[in-house]
Amino acid sequence: MALITWTKDTFGTDVGVADDQHQKLFGLLNGLHEAVGAGNRSAVGSKLDELINFVVMHFKTEEDLMKQHGYPEYETHKAEHDKLVATCADVQKKFHAGELDITADTTDFVKDWLTNHIPNVDKHYGPFLKSKGVA
Ligand code: FEO
Repeated sequence: MALITWTKDTFGTDVGVADDQHQKLFGLLNGLHEAVGAGNRSAVGSKLDELINFVVMHFKTEEDLMKQHGYPEYETHKAEHDKLVATCADVQKKFHAGELDITADTTDFVKDWLTNHIPNVDKHYGPFLKSKGVA
């Protein structure tokens, strides 16, 4: 069963590229969740790397859009991104060094982060970017 499901009501930002990337991100997190459930450490490693690479790319997409259009909440939004990226980098390093396992707690943490961040932070840029002509 999927760990997280994207719905327009809960997660839609009205910015097409962000909504597309969020859906892809959810798919990658669900894939990692499945690999964790299957106990396949090698699959967990590759899915973890894929998820983190995508998260970094996604944050850059949002940050470029916010910066380009002079979004007033850019700094606080970016600070949330930076904090998660630092946590992910630490987990990724420790996992590959054999010092840490990825568990359901890890995937739940990411799920909770997204479930808070997208509705409460990402959604704020929707009307602003729309007003600047971003589709
Ligand atoms: Fe979609 Fe601000 O992350």
